[in-house]
Amino acid sequence: MISSAIISGSGAFTPPNTVTNVELCKRVDTSDEWIVSRTGIKSRQLIAKEGEMTTVDMAEKAAQAALDMAKIKAIELDMIIVATVTPDYRLPSAACLLQNKLAARNACAFDLIAACAGSLYGLSIASQFISSGKYKKILVIGAETMSTILNWSDRNTCVLFGDAASAAILEPSPDPEKGFIDFQLYSDGTHWQDIWIPEGGSKNPVSADTFEKKGDRVLMNGRETFKFAVRALTSAALKILESHRVSIEQVHHIVAHQANLRIIEAVAERLGISLDRFIINIDRFANTSSASLLLTFDEGKRLKRFKDNDLILMLAIGSGFAWGASLYRM
Ligand SMILES: CC(C)(COP(=O)(O)OP(=O)(O)OC[C@H]1O[C@@H](n2cnc3c(N)ncnc32)[C@H](O)[C@@H]1OP(=O)(O)O)[C@@H](O)C(=O)NCCC(=O)NCCS
Repeated sequence: MISSAIISGSGAFTPPNTVTNVELCKRVDTSDEWIVSRTGIKSRQLIAKEGEMTTVDMAEKAAQAALDMAKIKAIELDMIIVATVTPDYRLPSAACLLQNKLAARNACAFDLIAACAGSLYGLSIASQFISSGKYKKILVIGAETMSTILNWSDRNTCVLFGDAASAAILEPSPDPEKGFIDFQLYSDGTHWQDIWIPEGGSKNPVSADTFEKKGDRVLMNGRETFKFAVRALTSAALKILESHRVSIEQVHHIVAHQANLRIIEAVAERLGISLDRFIINIDRFANTSSASLLLTFDEGKRLKRFKDNDLILMLAIGSGFAWGASLYRM
């Protein structure tokens, strides 16, 4: 039987340690004015020190909040998908560690990498398993300790990111008109070097000078990423709307990956809509990579921004580039 998948519960967790732009000025040559005017970021939540709290620790807290909202127990889960570029270990997956922590013994579990588009990709996979009737309860997580892969002396990147985890439980919708309507996903690997980590993989394994060169830390071509993101997100939005003969006026909310407020503003302008239809939290959390989309969804949900029958457009893009759009009916 084909049924649509709904988000029956969502949750999020951010570490309690708030780091303002002013505090970052002690680490790199930057200013609150530069960061706010170029990105909209005022502060971010970061783990206090490496190892103090891990990606899976945060994922567990976000998962528990989502399970509570959905009123289900971890033992009922059929599948756990963790989208992350910062798993606790190279092996095994963060998803298997999370399965163990939650004692979700009936769930298969795996990680996926689509960087900042990870949650959207995870939701799309979960949605297919629900729609096909194969599984009934799937946990999708986006979780990142970005602070552990940033170069804290590179002002081009370290001011942009935050740590967080977010979660969604997907279940079959009792009403076929509700839930995920569609996902449209894209990738363009010609841009693989626009956001990347040069060392630590099979191409350039960690060597004696990796740590001195900071080869295991994120490098980014900010300007190219910015331009590509605006074009790709706008195009993905227009295509999915056109496929379903929906106009942008019929969309009540846009839940978009929070990379940069100026990217969101540029997409809003191209779509011809005002910013108040977007849920915005980049000012407080910065770019939390794969955690960002569901962190934003969860905020909209808990603030009761979404009403019954509202149409939500989800948009995300990340390193690769990988990006996409989804339509969801509350
Ligand atoms: C990174 C970004 C904020 C830079 O903004 P920008 O307006 O494009 O800035 P520019 O690249 O033109 O750089 C302007 C100058 O600011 C400097 N600069 C960079 N980071 C800085 C910082 N934190 N503080 C102060 N100056 C900074 C640059 O060195 C450059 O100086 P130069 O002209 O002397 O070389 C912007 O390009 C961006 O957001 N890109 C997308 C990043 C992103 O979203 N990544 C994740 C995608 S999932």
